Amino acid sequence: MVSVSLAASSELPANAAMLVGVHSGELRLAPGAEPVDAALGGRLLAALRAVGATGKPDQVLKIPTLGVAPFPLVVATGLGPAGAGLDAEQVRRAVGAAVRSLDATARVHVAIGDASTAGAAAEGALLGAYTYTDYKSQPKASALRRVAIGAGDSGKHARAALRRAQVVADAVNFTRDLVNVPPNDLYPQTFAERLAEAGRAAGLEVEILDEKALRRGGFGGILGVGSGSARPPRLTRLAYRPARPIARIALVGKGITFDSGGLNLKPGSSMSSMKCDMGGAAVCAAAVVAAAKLKLPVEVVATLPMAENMISGSSYRPSDVLTMRGGKTLEIVDTDAEGRVILADAITRASEDSPDYLLETSTLTGGQVVSLGTRVIGAMGEPAFRDRVVAVGNAAGESLWAMPLPEDLRPGLDSAVADIANLPTDRWGSMLVGGHFLAEFVPDGLPWVHLDIAGPAWNDGSPHGYTPKGGTGACARTLIAMLEDVAATPKGR
Ligand code: BES
Ligand code: MN
Ligand code: ZN
Repeated sequence: MVSVSLAASSELPANAAMLVGVHSGELRLAPGAEPVDAALGGRLLAALRAVGATGKPDQVLKIPTLGVAPFPLVVATGLGPAGAGLDAEQVRRAVGAAVRSLDATARVHVAIGDASTAGAAAEGALLGAYTYTDYKSQPKASALRRVAIGAGDSGKHARAALRRAQVVADAVNFTRDLVNVPPNDLYPQTFAERLAEAGRAAGLEVEILDEKALRRGGFGGILGVGSGSARPPRLTRLAYRPARPIARIALVGKGITFDSGGLNLKPGSSMSSMKCDMGGAAVCAAAVVAAAKLKLPVEVVATLPMAENMISGSSYRPSDVLTMRGGKTLEIVDTDAEGRVILADAITRASEDSPDYLLETSTLTGGQVVSLGTRVIGAMGEPAFRDRVVAVGNAAGESLWAMPLPEDLRPGLDSAVADIANLPTDRWGSMLVGGHFLAEFVPDGLPWVHLDIAGPAWNDGSPHGYTPKGGTGACARTLIAMLEDVAATPKGR
């Protein structure tokens, strides 16, 4: 566990490594490094040149001071090009990359930026320090214990920024933990129990519908997808209800604890990361907990459908017709397009409470990964609200891109036997088709967004910035920032 605190920027503790930022291009030190450079007689940049510093993101270099300065070590982290001012996300990534690379240092003093970037530096440190070792019999313990952010002052603003950073980082890391749990241990029942525990600890209302309750409630989509698994499905609801909320926000997240594809079985290579298919539900739960910790004046209710998409004699089949919550009938064309099936029931349930806004997030389509890659979230929905979410999420340091719902793609979901099909017969524009499908279950007039995080939820590649391998916690910062944005702009429907 790493703790983060504020420190005066001029105070250079003798037993801490000093973290400085370096800009690429014409190599230069980022603001905040001045006292460190001064303690080294102004020779820091020359030393960095000598060891091949580029200032590019993810380059982290260590220079021992050999008794010349009060501190034992300088750690230089690449920020990329210098802009008008230090960009918060640049700082997050650079601090995260540095913290990831520290193995023998117990204390770090961040000499990058000032009070205005203290929150970002703290987030970067807390996110970069994340490791998942629950299943290691001999986990390597990191030496890092304390990160001090040299913020220039420890005034009210910097302290509030630090508190917020802790809540946000806890949300991201909670999501990462849940995504990383192996699917033999995390299945609908245990997933629901873990969220209930976290929810109760944060003072949330918790409701869990088991398979009997789902049957009574007519949740044909969740039951259909869950029918092939020995582990029955759940619908978990977490509610944060402050007194006199400014607005009511529904969150919906996909909670497929493992996606084998069902009878339309995935090839092994596509199945290997499918424990991440509950990342949407996990991040929604994390966001409600964060809203409670931040005491936001908005009501937030997460509706989280949970099922395991498996193969057995009781699996749902292609050609089955399911009767969904609310009465619509759905033809299953492909059992691997299961996320939208459980989400449709959940969106219907969430909308019954007439929220003012609905944000849904899911690892929904391979098409998202093809279109936008592994780091950019695809946003679809009611255009004005979608664009607001994209702007707010990008400002929070995540990458989102607005995607259209072209009219011509909707008829592909027409079914010859039922009200709607879960997949067209062709595969074009599959991310957008996913958005169209969900739109069918959103009531008219409700501002809504669908955030496809299929690629961003999971990092199969090398760690980078503050992002580890495995679960990334994608979308947590966007959701929290949106809850704050709504909390700051009073307007009902
Ligand atoms: N969970 C997958 C989507 C996914 C793909 C998530 C890659 C993370 C990484 C989803 O349920 C799925 O299987 N989608 C398929 C549907 C297929 C029937 C067209 C897809 O989009 O490829
Ligand atoms: Mn699938
Ligand atoms: Zn899936």
